[in-house]
Order: sequence, then structure tokens, then C-alpha cells
Amino acid sequence: MNINKQSKNYEAKPSRYDNMMYRRCGNSGILLPAISLGLWHNFGHTDDFPNARKILRTSFDCGVTHFDLANNYGPPYGAAEETFGRIFKKDFKQYRDELLISSKAGYDMWDGPYGNFGSRKHLISSIDQSLKRMGIEYVDIFYHHRPDPDTPLEETMSALHQIVQQGKALYVGVSRYPADLTRQASEILKKMGTKLLIHQPRYNMMDRSVEDGLLEELGTQGIGAIAFSPLSQGILTNKYLNGFPEGSRAIKDNRYLKKEQITEKKLDKVNQLNIIAQERGQSLAQMAIAWLLKDDLITSVLVGVSSPKQMLDNVKSIENLNFSKMELTSIEKILNS
Ligand SMILES: NC(=O)c1ccc[n+]([C@@H]2O[C@H](COP(=O)([O-])OP(=O)(O)OC[C@H]3O[C@@H](n4cnc5c(N)ncnc54)[C@H](OP(=O)(O)O)[C@@H]3O)[C@@H](O)[C@H]2O)c1
Repeated sequence: MNINKQSKNYEAKPSRYDNMMYRRCGNSGILLPAISLGLWHNFGHTDDFPNARKILRTSFDCGVTHFDLANNYGPPYGAAEETFGRIFKKDFKQYRDELLISSKAGYDMWDGPYGNFGSRKHLISSIDQSLKRMGIEYVDIFYHHRPDPDTPLEETMSALHQIVQQGKALYVGVSRYPADLTRQASEILKKMGTKLLIHQPRYNMMDRSVEDGLLEELGTQGIGAIAFSPLSQGILTNKYLNGFPEGSRAIKDNRYLKKEQITEKKLDKVNQLNIIAQERGQSLAQMAIAWLLKDDLITSVLVGVSSPKQMLDNVKSIENLNFSKMELTSIEKILNS
């Protein structure tokens, strides 16, 4: 696909900052949009390039200033960063200072013993590759993507510190780290003079493991939290209530979401939640996002979208973040049933 044939030069909407809410990331100087965009899906080489471009433009036009990537988002691995790089060069170069771009390393990426996990070798090589693929000089946030049981935490953290010292990332974060390891990581980094800015855990109405101590630890340490898969990959929307629509993730790209995961029991809960959302005048996706943002410890909610329309729907969730006691009790009852 020839990018020059896509559309004319992009000019971001002058009104882009009018409606988005920005929230402070822990006790740092950084503000994140309440809704951020993740490029895990829909930005691979097999995905529709014009649609990917429209998603990024629409998001930024809505004040979504944070785009989240990782070395191995695709398919194939690296493709999302390449797609982003092509679009960045055409549409977003002039807006670089208005954007927070993140990437990660720590899952399998290339062959051999250095293509994975948490060694200095893996992290430094990986960020160099990511910067090249995206065609940018630095990322705003670089994450260790998951804990590595075999590499000393000091090595992984000092690699993150080194990346900041080298100017390849402005801030660092961790993802999927349990509470105690997060505290240790934060302390090691602090001693070296680098702040652990942010944690990226999975958090949604159907996966609340972060409530068992992690969120509290982040609050204590002044570390921000950005919740990934807030819609449980699409289950927490109304899309699967009447079967499996063509083009939905469970049908189109089921690498990580299998039909079997969308059980009758889950759909029964989704149905009941959908009724509460309707009573609140929200889509279920909006209510699921608002439910996360009601907690001040959640800096941002990191959604994936397969169309610009979904982002337009999602950003409206900030119009109603208040839940009555009765609504919260009813939601708890459904989730615990
Ligand atoms: N750190 C980690 O280990 C990790 C792991 C996973 C994800 N992440 C990050 O989190 C981001 C988001 O993850 P995710 O894609 O699983 O998030 P998600 O927001 O839970 O799910 C995204 C899917 O939900 C559906 N959707 C979104 N908005 C909708 C709406 N308004 N109405 C109906 N359906 C809607 C779309 O499904 P359809 O495609 O079916 O339309 C979309 O592809 C990723 O891109 C990545 O940046 C990080």
C-alpha cells in the first residue's frame, strides 16, 4: 500500500485538548490522557494500513496523546512498530513533543539466548531495534515487559537506568510485576537516581488481581498505573452478546482470545452489566472504562481499538465517571456471582 495515496497531509484538530482528561502519573511530572491507545492488535502487516492510520489520527484528534507499543507487537514481531513508524513519519513527526510513545522488551522477540527476558543484552539491543523500526530518537517510556525469574533484578533495573542515561528513554516502567517485586525494582532504581514512573498491569472487571496489594503498593510508592486490556479484549462490550461477529478479535485474530474463553457464564454477566450501562446512559465499553477510572490510582486506561469509531465511543467514558453506591453494589454482585 502506497502511503502517499492514503490522504493529504494530516493536521491535528485544534480542539484536540478540549475534552480529554489528563491525570498525573504517580508523583511525577507526567500527565497521561485518561484513555491511551495500545497497538498490540490491528497494526500488524496483515492488518488494514489505512484503518491503522485513521485510528491513530482519530485518537490524537480526541486528545489521546499516549501510544503504547512493544518490540513484538505484530504480526510478525516488530510489525506494529514499523507500521507506527511509517505513520509517524507522515502524520506525527511535527507533533513529537505532544506525544508519549512507549515500547517494551522482555517477551520472546528474536532467536537465541538474548532475544527474550531481562538481561542487559536483551534490553539494550531491543530498544535500539525499536527506535530504528519506529524512526524516532527516543521513547518516552520504556518498560520491562514481564518479570524474569532468572536474571538478577539489579541487572534488569540497571539496564533500564542505562537506557535513560543514554537518552534512549525519558522514563521507565514495569509490566506484570507483582507488588513485592515492584517495590524492590522501585528501590533499586531510586538508588541509581532513576524513578520507576509507571506500572502496566492487566486490570478489568473480570480480572481484578491488582486489587490484592499491587494498587496499594503503587499508591504508597507514588508510581502511576496504566491498565491494559480494560475491556478484556472486547468481552466487556456488547459485541459477543448475540454470537461471534465477523471481524471481531475472537474470529479474526484469535492468537490471544479464543472463542472458548468467551463462555456462557461470562456472557451472562456481560448481559447484566450491559443493562446497568444502559441505565447509566453509557455503552458497556464506556462503563467498563469508567469503572476503572473511578479509582484515582489508575492514571490511564489502555484500550485497543479495531476502528476509529470504537475510540470515539471509548473517549466518551470520561463524561460519567461517577457511580452511585447502588450501581457499585449491583456490579459487585454480578462480578462475584
Ligand atoms: N503489558 C502487557 O503484557 C500487555 C498485554 C496485553 C495488552 N497490552 C497493552 O494494552 C493494550 C490494549 O489491550 P487490548 O487490545 O487487549 O485491550 P481491550 O481494550 O481490552 O480490547 C480491545 C478490543 O476491544 C474491542 N473494543 C474496543 N473498544 C470497543 C468499543 N467501543 N466497542 C466495541 N468493542 C470495542 C475491540 O475488539 P474487536 O477487535 O473485536 O473489534 C478491540 O480490539 C494493547 O494494545 C497493549 O498496548 C499490554
